[in-house]
Amino acid sequence: MSTTRSPLPVDAASSIEPLAPPPRIAVRGAGVSFRAPSGEDRPVLSAVNLQVGPGELVSLLGPSGCGKTTLMNLMAGFLRPTVGSVAIDGVPVTGPDPRRVVIFQDYGLFPWRTVLGNVLFALESRGERGTAARAKALHYLQLVGLAEAADQHPHQLSGGMKQRVAIARALAVRPEVLFMDEPFGALDTFTRFHLQDLLLELWERTRLTTVLVTHDVDEALYLSDRVVVLGENPGRIVETIDVALPRPRDRRDPVLHALRDRLLEHLRLAGRWHLRTPEYEI
Ligand SMILES: Nc1ncnc2c1ncn2[C@@H]1O[C@H](COP(=O)(O)OP(=O)(O)OP(=O)(O)O)[C@@H](O)[C@H]1O
Ligand SMILES: [Mg+2]
Repeated sequence: MSTTRSPLPVDAASSIEPLAPPPRIAVRGAGVSFRAPSGEDRPVLSAVNLQVGPGELVSLLGPSGCGKTTLMNLMAGFLRPTVGSVAIDGVPVTGPDPRRVVIFQDYGLFPWRTVLGNVLFALESRGERGTAARAKALHYLQLVGLAEAADQHPHQLSGGMKQRVAIARALAVRPEVLFMDEPFGALDTFTRFHLQDLLLELWERTRLTTVLVTHDVDEALYLSDRVVVLGENPGRIVETIDVALPRPRDRRDPVLHALRDRLLEHLRLAGRWHLRTPEYEI
């Protein structure tokens, strides 16, 4: 007599992966056109399909003007697509939402408020006040190593410190999705590396779904689960690279370097092709 045997021992059933949750962000067939001064519609983004899963850290990488910020603005709800759709957890994105926060390159701090006051502002705008809000703001400043600068004003801080305040302010409101538009673009290499590590540490703790816009190939590879490469005219996704390396990563990892070569080729930044002798005399 034959018996049908399950391919799995009974107690292994509990270790079977559950069905994947639905994507947190879904951009489907999205296009954006802007009206040029001539009155013509100029396509800026075309046929963009992108899904970002819950807790994923995805970078948008591409040359200046290719539409990275436009795509981020679509997902953050600052802009509506001309065609196609954007949804978060299945709900169409129709405008900004307090569950999503954006960190910009220029920090966006209020100069007249102290460091603590800047973080408190975000909490106050969500109705949190008093000693509890103050304690929470201080907690997030502590997380980014700035508790001691709580009473200073932005003009007394370095660029890296200002961006740490912006990170504290963004995280204090416990968002579900974090968007960052070239947050470290204005910082020197040392500070950038330091803040990249800080961001990773915070991301590991919060597992926020994160979309990072960057020009920096190394930053994209060091931080991301996935690098989405955009081409220009019109902006569109030309390649997606999975970075299947555990964290923390070693910036000298040969796998990262191989991926870097691939990205540089793709972005036509490898070699000296762009330094071709111009047709005119110098
Ligand atoms: N509100 C607008 N009206 C008209 N054109 C716009 C508008 N916003 C962006 N554009 C154009 O859309 C294109 C993409 O802009 P976007 O800011 O998304 O590029 P980007 O990839 O973020 O560039 P960068 O890396 O320089 O920040 C650019 O040509 C820009 O001039
Ligand atoms: Mg931009």
